[in-house]
Amino acid sequence: MESLIIKGGVPLHGEVTISGAKNAVLPLMAATLLTAEPCTIRRVPNLSDVRFMGQILTWLGAKVEFDGDTVRIEARKIRGAGDYDLVRKMRGSICIMGPLLGRLKKATVSLPGGCIIGARPINLHLKGFAALGAKLKVENGYVEASAKRLVGAEMFLGGRAGSTVLGTANVMMAATLAEGITVIESAACEPEVVDLANFLNAMGAKIVGAGSPTLTITGVKELHGAEHEVIPDRIEAATYAIAAAATDGEVLLRGARPDHLHAVLDKLRDAGVKIERKGPDLLVRRNGRLKPVDITTLTYSGFPTDVQAQMMALMVLTPGISIITERIFESRFMHVSELARLGADIEIEGPSAIIKGGKPLSGAPVMASDLRASAALVIAGLAATGATQINRVYHLDRGYENMDSKLRGLGARVERIEEA
Ligand code: EPZ
Repeated sequence: MESLIIKGGVPLHGEVTISGAKNAVLPLMAATLLTAEPCTIRRVPNLSDVRFMGQILTWLGAKVEFDGDTVRIEARKIRGAGDYDLVRKMRGSICIMGPLLGRLKKATVSLPGGCIIGARPINLHLKGFAALGAKLKVENGYVEASAKRLVGAEMFLGGRAGSTVLGTANVMMAATLAEGITVIESAACEPEVVDLANFLNAMGAKIVGAGSPTLTITGVKELHGAEHEVIPDRIEAATYAIAAAATDGEVLLRGARPDHLHAVLDKLRDAGVKIERKGPDLLVRRNGRLKPVDITTLTYSGFPTDVQAQMMALMVLTPGISIITERIFESRFMHVSELARLGADIEIEGPSAIIKGGKPLSGAPVMASDLRASAALVIAGLAATGATQINRVYHLDRGYENMDSKLRGLGARVERIEEA
């Protein structure tokens, strides 16, 4: 396994190009299962999760060809079952279920199971499929949805933590080929869901309301091939913005979409970070001393849970008390104990972390756990004095394209080594 060695204390300077959004491209790739015609998706990030999705689609019978940051997928003939191991290993692949159900009227995938940040249920996905007329069966770790016909229906997909991103994506994709009209109330409003709806409409679907809590899908007989460019990754952009602030540097984020980042930019400004729009780019640097802020993660357009850990790393460096409350996942504080190894003073009180910030951080060996927790450790390591070794860096490679080389391009002293 590989590790990153970061020698901290260097302010980041320069510019970094934001890659295509991981959480958009996975459902976009799954959506190509809805047609027998070829689809082309551009600005695809080179990530292990993306290559994995390619393996799953290939296993299902699709032709998948990566060419740089473009992937061409042709799902002429496909089977309706997802390989148990493949789907179980990457939760995001649950989004093949909706397209398989829509195209074949039958879908069998492994129950994705939980992961380090929480239980990750799919009850809302299944509620939507059942509302469309699918019969559901759960046995031997698989879930099967099948229907003679899919009929449009009205449904409410809100759960204990509000809307579901992949649940909305899954049901929306199945509904594109249902007979009649489907209305999804409490639909997820994330930009990645809007990007998917735009791609589906380019394929001939009839979806209105994307980006709002009410999605209306008028079913069509079939969908055709289409081309699409993935939106930039707002979570990656937020991560580099926070790294710039944490190291007291100045970084130009090329191609970041500020309209996808209102909640994050608002909190960063409150925290004493200056953010200037330069056309389609964002220039980020500190604006005097950092100030403590309180954050609660919410569904879009609230503060994103995927930026919670990275923001905590910034608050660790900020003199004063900050409170971060995680309302989306039940155990997304894995980074707290690792940040403490670098000198952070954080107490967890139920869904909240109380950060007593401003103590200097010193490098130490730490363990990556989940994707965004690993990003928080990178940010802390960049700001700490001395060397930080981040082990199990494959977590980072799932969601950050070439992170070590992008950071070196900004002047950071980062190297990737084979773990001893
Ligand atoms: C997507 O996961 C993202 N992953 C996650 O990003 C992101 O954190 C999450 O949305 C929330 O924004 C991808 O897009 C591949 P949810 P998803 O369904 O769709 C509960 C990252 O770091 N829920 O919106 O699986 C669930 O337990 C990853 O890039 C149900 O109760 O998340 C959670 O508490 C991590 N029943 C909440 O809803 C369901 O059927 C939000 O989950 C589904 C979800």
